Amino acid sequence: MIFERLQIRNVLIKPAHILAPMAGITDTVFRRFIKRLGGCGLIMTEFVSSEGMLRHNLKSQRYLYYTEEERPITAQIFGADPDHLAEAARMIEDLGFDLIDLNLGCPAKKVVKCGGSGLLRDLPLLERILRKIRSAVTIPFTIKIRIGWSDQEIVAVPVARMAEDCGVEAIAVHGRTRMQGYSGRANWSVIAEVKASVRIPVIGNGDVFTPRDAEALHAQTGVDGVMIGRAAPTNPWIFQQMAEYFRTGSYREPTESDRYQLIRQYYAMLVEEEMPGALGKMKQFASWFTHGVRNGSELRRSVQSAMSPREVLERVDAFFLGTACTVSRAD
Ligand SMILES: Cc1cc2nc3c(=O)[nH]c(=O)nc-3n(C[C@H](O)[C@H](O)[C@H](O)COP(=O)(O)O)c2cc1C
Repeated sequence: MIFERLQIRNVLIKPAHILAPMAGITDTVFRRFIKRLGGCGLIMTEFVSSEGMLRHNLKSQRYLYYTEEERPITAQIFGADPDHLAEAARMIEDLGFDLIDLNLGCPAKKVVKCGGSGLLRDLPLLERILRKIRSAVTIPFTIKIRIGWSDQEIVAVPVARMAEDCGVEAIAVHGRTRMQGYSGRANWSVIAEVKASVRIPVIGNGDVFTPRDAEALHAQTGVDGVMIGRAAPTNPWIFQQMAEYFRTGSYREPTESDRYQLIRQYYAMLVEEEMPGALGKMKQFASWFTHGVRNGSELRRSVQSAMSPREVLERVDAFFLGTACTVSRAD
């Protein structure tokens, strides 16, 4: 069975389906929500600034909050100062994370000046950073890269080889360049070249939206694991669907009732945990999630005009209980 398991030193990732780090999305509530649905073997924090961590910035501390239920869990950091990154890495280890990941993919202008995909243009500095982080921590160390800065500067293979030489223990490759942003298609051929050029596990990422996409990614690249980003908030069942598909050759589509239970569960978690920014997150999630729902635009409108998280919950209940009489409340 493909993507059945992946071992990164002492960390077993089973199945080898990984939730991609996504700033503003993969907070502790979303990660637990995905974990509870099943089929996801590893989750990661949103990226956290090493500079912010050293300043004990509140936001960074919030991003690094996790619960035992989330294990195994990776903390992802970014930055460009080797000593500061090493110090931040030690803090990550002290916080009890299972793995540490360095972000080498973020395309945002303000990030590339101080890390992210900007480091793909300065390999000598990147090598210093990798060695510093490696010697600062004992937990497994991974990196997540884009394939290069632009079509003229594809560096995924040399970066992967260098990373392996520096003691990096796995590499996730998003098959796009920095200049591409999220446009065009992810280039899986470069992911295949990376896989063929290193011995450490390679995790493929980019444009996997269905279990069949994951199967095709495996067939075309031979990667050891699959990482899912944008599909997760629109179809949080994707991890479970992949597990079912690889086991049986087919998978179940969610029913209207499943959709209701799911949106309600996520919202209830946000309300109960008094997540900062819960109302915004609920509205954001509603705009992605309601696309598969019958009369979804009505639900979207209703959620968008709510004034508090509790009001959103009430509106979701009113919508589903009013339109789908077969649905029964979970609580
Ligand atoms: C809203 C958003 C936030 C993201 N934040 C991060 C991040 O914090 N760290 C990171 O390495 N990648 C980040 N990414 C990139 C994803 O992890 C992933 O590489 C990319 O979305 C491609 O995978 P996909 O086609 O499955 O979405 C982000 C992507 C999105 C859409």
